[in-house]
Amino acid sequence: MCGIVAVIGSREASPLLLEGLKRLEYRGYDSSGIATVEFPTDGSRGSLTCKRANGKLVNLVQLVNKEGAPGHLGIGHTRWATHGKPEERNAHPHRDSSGGIAVVQNGIIENHSVLRKELEVEGIQFLSDTDTEVIPHLIARELNLLTKDDFKTEKGLMLLEAVQRVSVQLEGAYAVAVIWEDAPETLVVARRQAPLLIGLGEGEFLCASDTPALAGFTRTILPMEDGEVALLTPLGIELYDIQGKRTQRSPTLLNGQEDVVNKRNFRHFMLKEIYEQSETARLWIDRHLPLGLPEDSPVAYPFKESFYEGIERIQILACGTSRHAGMVGAYLLEKFAGIPTTVFYASEFRYTKPPLTPNTLTIGVTQSGETADTLAALGMEAERRAQYGETAFISRQLGITNRSESSIARQVPNILDIGAGMEVGVAATKTFLGQLLAFYGLALAFAARRKSCSAQEIIDLTNELRSLPNQLIEQIEKHDQISETMAQHFVDTQNVIFLGRGINYPIALEGALKLKEISYIHAEGYPAGEMKHGPIALLERDVPVIAIATPGVVFEKVLSNAQEAKARDARLIGVAPDGVATETFDDLMPIPEVSEFISPLYSVIPMQLLSYHIAANRGLDIDQPRNLAKSVTVE
Ligand code: F6R
Repeated sequence: MCGIVAVIGSREASPLLLEGLKRLEYRGYDSSGIATVEFPTDGSRGSLTCKRANGKLVNLVQLVNKEGAPGHLGIGHTRWATHGKPEERNAHPHRDSSGGIAVVQNGIIENHSVLRKELEVEGIQFLSDTDTEVIPHLIARELNLLTKDDFKTEKGLMLLEAVQRVSVQLEGAYAVAVIWEDAPETLVVARRQAPLLIGLGEGEFLCASDTPALAGFTRTILPMEDGEVALLTPLGIELYDIQGKRTQRSPTLLNGQEDVVNKRNFRHFMLKEIYEQSETARLWIDRHLPLGLPEDSPVAYPFKESFYEGIERIQILACGTSRHAGMVGAYLLEKFAGIPTTVFYASEFRYTKPPLTPNTLTIGVTQSGETADTLAALGMEAERRAQYGETAFISRQLGITNRSESSIARQVPNILDIGAGMEVGVAATKTFLGQLLAFYGLALAFAARRKSCSAQEIIDLTNELRSLPNQLIEQIEKHDQISETMAQHFVDTQNVIFLGRGINYPIALEGALKLKEISYIHAEGYPAGEMKHGPIALLERDVPVIAIATPGVVFEKVLSNAQEAKARDARLIGVAPDGVATETFDDLMPIPEVSEFISPLYSVIPMQLLSYHIAANRGLDIDQPRNLAKSVTVE
C-alpha cells in the first residue's frame, strides 16, 4: 500500500528519498514520486522540483538521475491506486496551482468530492483524479488567508498553522507530509488513523510510514500519535496534539528486526520466508514454551493472571490470511479451552455488529498491525463497550501482530508479538505460522488454567510443538523439491479446488488464497463435505483438486469426498501422510503423521511451496503481486 518518506537535513534529499522508497517497495505500489526544495544560499525562497513516474521505482530513479531533484528537504511516495488509475498524473506528490506546495498522502480523504467541488467553484483546476489533490489546494487557500490576516510570523510557522487548519477539514484516515518552497527549512507532517513515524538521524530528521524506510538511516524513532501534527526543521522537532497544543515525548529505539532485509541466496523473499519458518517456530518455542513451567501455566505469555480470568466468549477479528489463522485458533480455543469462539471478517464486523455478549475477549489478528479494517473494528468494539463502564460488557482486547511498534500495539492493551522478523514478500507465510503458534499458546494457556482438558493432552500438544522446528526444516526442503516438479502440471491450469475439513479447512482456504495471490490462478477452498453441494459441477480433467487428509476425526470423510472428485476425472493431489490411503491420490504431497490438532502447521507448507513454484514457473512478480499490498491501510 502507499508509502511515505520525507527528510530534512544536511545532505541531498533525493538519494535518501529514493533509498527509503526502495525499502517500502515490498508494501506494494504502482507509481512513485518525490518533491524536493533547494535551500537558497541568500536567504530568499527556495525552489521546488517534483518528479513522478508510473510503474516500478526504477522508472523514477532513472528520471531523477537524468533530470535531477536538488535540495536538502524532500518528500517521497509510493502510490497504490485507490482514487484514479495508476498513471503519472495521479502519482504523488500533488501540488497546488502555483506549484510551490507539495503533498504526499497515505489513506483516504473521505470528503474529497465535497472539498473538490468547493475548490472548483473558487476556480481551482484539478490535474488528477485523486482524493489527495484537495490537500495542497486547501493549504494554499489557508496560506493566502493567513497572509491576508497579516499573520506576522515566519513562513515555517505559517505552513504549520495552515496544515493544522486543513487537518480539521479532512475526514477519513490519513498521513501527510508537506513542503513549501517559501519555507525551505520546514517539513510539516500529520497523521490521523494512518501510521507515521519520525526518525532522528545524525544531522537530519526523517519521517516515514513504516520502519524499514527509517531503519537504514536511524534507529531512534518517535511514532506519531493519532491526530498529531509535527514541524520538522534542521534545528529540531515540534509536536502538536490534536487540539493544537505543543506536546513532548521521548523517542524510542527500533528493536532490531526492521533492518533492511536481504534475500540471501534465495530467488525471492517469499521462498526465503517459507524457509525461515522453522526458525520462527524455534524462536517462539524458546520464548514461550521453555521447560519447567508449572502445570497450570505451561506457556510464558506476557499477561497478568487477570487477563485469563472470567472469559466466557472470544471473538476474533481479522482479514485475509490472518483470518485463516484466526479460524484455526477458534478451533483450538474451543477444543482445548472450551471457550465458544467466533471469527469475523474485520471489514464486515464494523457494519454488522453482533449483539454484545458479556465477558468477551476480542482478538485482533494482523501481521502488519496496520490493517485499517481490523483496527477500525477493534476501535468500534472498544467504543461500544466503553459506555458500559466497569461491567461484564467492558472491552477486553488482545492484538496478535508481527510489528510490535505498529498501530495495533498503541491501540489495544494486550499484545502478543509473534516475533517472526521482517516479512517482505506480500504473500504472508512465516507470519501465518507465527499467528498459528500464538493461538496454540493461547489455547494451552487457557486450557491449563480452566482444566478444560487433561494434563496429558496439554503435555502431548506441548511436546508436538517442541518437535516442530526440526521437522519443519525437513518438510520445507522436501516440499520445495516435490512442488517444483509438481508445478509442471499446472502450466495451463485455470482453476484449482482445495478441500479440507475441521481444523484443516482454514488451511484449504489459505492454500487457495496463496495460489490466487501470486499465480493469478482462480482457486477456491471448500470444506470437503460441501463440494457435492455445488462446486462439484466445476470438476473435470483440467481442474485439479488438492485435498488435505490428515488422520483424525474427519480423515475417512475427506477421503470419500476426494473419491467423489476423482470419479469426475479431476487430478487428485493429496496432502496426507505417506502410506496411509495414498492409493486414493494421483499425486501425494506427504506430511508427517502427527495429531490432527498439530497438522495445520505441516499441511500449510506444501500449500505455500506449490503456489510459489507455480507462480515462479509462470515468471510472475512473486514478492510484489499485482494489485496487492503488504499492509492495507485503507478501508
Ligand atoms: C495474504 C495476505 C493478506 C493479509 C491481509 C491482512 O497473503 O497477506 O490476505 O493477510 O491483508 O493483513 P494483516 O495481517 O496485515 O492484517
